[in-house]
Amino acid sequence: MDNQNFGIGILGIGMCLPESILTNYDLEKMVDTSDEWIIKRTGISERRILDKDEPAYKLGVKAAQRAIEDAGLKPEEIDFIIVTTTSPDYLTPSMSCMIQSEIGAVNAAALDINAACTGFIYALKIAEALIANGCYKNILLVACEGLSKVVDWEDRATCVLFGDGAGAVVIGAVENGLGIVKTCVGADGSIGHNLTIPCCYLSNVDLEKRVHENKRVVWMDGSEVFKFAVKAMAEAASKVLDESNFSIEDIKLIIPHQANVRIIDGAAKRLGVSLDKMYINLNKYGNISSASIPVALKEAVDLNLIKKGELVLLVGFGGGLTWGSTVMRWNR
Ligand code: ACO
Repeated sequence: MDNQNFGIGILGIGMCLPESILTNYDLEKMVDTSDEWIIKRTGISERRILDKDEPAYKLGVKAAQRAIEDAGLKPEEIDFIIVTTTSPDYLTPSMSCMIQSEIGAVNAAALDINAACTGFIYALKIAEALIANGCYKNILLVACEGLSKVVDWEDRATCVLFGDGAGAVVIGAVENGLGIVKTCVGADGSIGHNLTIPCCYLSNVDLEKRVHENKRVVWMDGSEVFKFAVKAMAEAASKVLDESNFSIEDIKLIIPHQANVRIIDGAAKRLGVSLDKMYINLNKYGNISSASIPVALKEAVDLNLIKKGELVLLVGFGGGLTWGSTVMRWNR
């Protein structure tokens, strides 16, 4: 990769969110909670929610179409699709195959990966390697989540946190010296039991933790995940900066995973940066898992917060438990 005479970066970016808004006041009518509690403990005011009969992949289709158009490409020019999701509509067909079919990316191979909220950063790492070694030219990454379908709407400890949405990018060759500088990813499966969504298997522990009828829903030890998150975000950011020989002062904007404003604040303090350097939109969308970073990146780009040549740091954590960070020299 070191001998390469081109950069690898984002050719196009898109997002799509459901139209329906669920506010904290709506949640007050559903569970024993309050707008005040949710804002104080999380920073979230509202989230976007899919209709019950609407599959999540449709959001991914729109986000993908927007990213491909933004890249100035045709769907036939995409040669590989990676979808990141913690909430697939089906185990098979994969969300990536469903999106491939609907957008008409007839020349693309397609697969899903799951690194929970860190999925987008894992996908960047994979896409960069596949382009660097000459396997593919234009890779579509779609981070697509329908978390409202795996949330227990009677569990106030989790239902206030999550939302639905999708973000997409096309990755390909860019001007030399621009694009992805370094990506670091990691995992600690030994603490994965702190955040679970059962699928094909239910252990006795899973059954005990979920008091309501539907057992295939999110369960989380919020304070354990919180402690991991603050430490992992700060350490992941420091690691990628060290490995790319930059300091935090070199970074124009940090796009953190949008789970809880207190987690972002804690990570900012550890990194010694002010919250102004962190792009935050979780007040509007809640935690949309792997879609949260690309959606925030798209908004930051639209707001002209990052200019060509400036450094952006993406950093996240998630179920697994996993973490990841990317330094990118903005190429557009
Ligand atoms: N409304 C009102 N009260 C509530 C609510 C609610 N929605 N939820 C919990 N409470 C109560 C609890 O029952 C508890 O009451 P008690 O003291 O009488 O027992 C009290 O509020 C405090 O609860 P804590 O869990 O200690 O609250 P905390 O300040 O830790 O905040 C939260 C909880 C927001 C979940 C926090 O721990 C958190 O953000 N954790 C990380 C979550 C996260 O980032 N998850 C995403 C992972 S990424 C992925 O891959 C999906």
